[in-house]
Amino acid sequence: MDMSLGFEDILLKQDLDREDIKVLLSARGPQQERLLKRGLEVKLSNLDNYVHLRGLIEYENVCEKNCLYCGLRSGNAKVERYCLSDEEVLSCARLAHGQGYGSVALQSGERSDPDFVRKIAYLVREIKKIDGGSLGITLSLGEQTEETYRMWFEAGAHRYLLRIESSNEELYYKIHPRNDLHSFRKRLDCLETLKRIGYQTGTGVMVGLPYQTLDHLADDLLFFKEMDVAMVGLGPYIPHPDTPLYKLKDLIPPAEERMSLTLKMIAILRMMMPQINMVAATANQTIDPQGREKAIAAGANVIMPNLTPGEYRESYFIYPDKACVKDRPEQCQTCLDIRLAAIGHRILYNAWGDSLAFTKKAGK
Ligand code: 5AD
Ligand code: SF4
Ligand code: FES
Repeated sequence: MDMSLGFEDILLKQDLDREDIKVLLSARGPQQERLLKRGLEVKLSNLDNYVHLRGLIEYENVCEKNCLYCGLRSGNAKVERYCLSDEEVLSCARLAHGQGYGSVALQSGERSDPDFVRKIAYLVREIKKIDGGSLGITLSLGEQTEETYRMWFEAGAHRYLLRIESSNEELYYKIHPRNDLHSFRKRLDCLETLKRIGYQTGTGVMVGLPYQTLDHLADDLLFFKEMDVAMVGLGPYIPHPDTPLYKLKDLIPPAEERMSLTLKMIAILRMMMPQINMVAATANQTIDPQGREKAIAAGANVIMPNLTPGEYRESYFIYPDKACVKDRPEQCQTCLDIRLAAIGHRILYNAWGDSLAFTKKAGK
């Protein structure tokens, strides 16, 4: 870093390096406010004040993996496992379309058996039949073979979210079991494969993990940039009592600090990647009732309202106190309209809301 650069100069820089990012991540008080405002400014001048919605369908909570932080891990015997019926999925999708959401996101624990793979391809094709293919489809179904990713892409999915969780291999293995099922390399390979196939590819990390430093977080942002992803979803880590990582909860920053780190990450990333799609994660709202709005006001531009039928919502217990668990999907729309208008934003209805960074690159 050029030592003569002040905080304001860094805010105006085009290419932030690791040291610049660390200075920004350390901002507090008025400087933090300046940074978050900068994130908003950059977003507004590149993407306007639109927020895109993805109706979230939590298809099933069975998972083959055993991530040390997640409530859905296979080792957690306390979860009641469910899988939505085809009709339940399709009625969620029709609901999304009826509400003008424009896109749905299909998410589940990780499974790779042939039944699952075929079922997803079928569901994607069926969702595509609604109103002549008017719904965009994001998948968030973990690590799969190239063949599977291709099959789902050909079925009609065009976006895929696979969080790297931490771009630092050592930290990755502190939050995942060290075995073939949880290979850091494989995850990187999957991201490359998704991009090669032509998905709008997204990744992301959790913020405020045990052992996570500002260097790690700065490197995460540089990783997103280096990977040139089209979408990012990042949110605070929330300790779940039925997971092994819970015992390290005293090592993590307090909730407000995890929240403000998340907001700073969003603002800095918006400066670095002005035209990507960035999710205001629901986990933000778990920590702060205004968490998602704050994320939007710091540079995020996507919200994923939950469409999972009420009876299953409490079983998709990735982390405690998830937002809207007790709300009906119809309520979220009015609620979001009001909440977003209050911060000068508006929802772009009936559109896919693709990443501008991606469509520009693809020459569309
Ligand atoms: N706190 C916050 N986010 C979590 N995730 C899983 N467990 C937690 C937790 N305890 C996130 C991961 C995963 C996504 C489905 O949920 O980033 O990719
Ligand atoms: Fe499964 Fe994903 Fe949870 Fe890991 S984070 S246990 S892969 S649902
Ligand atoms: Fe779900 Fe407010 S967004 S009730």
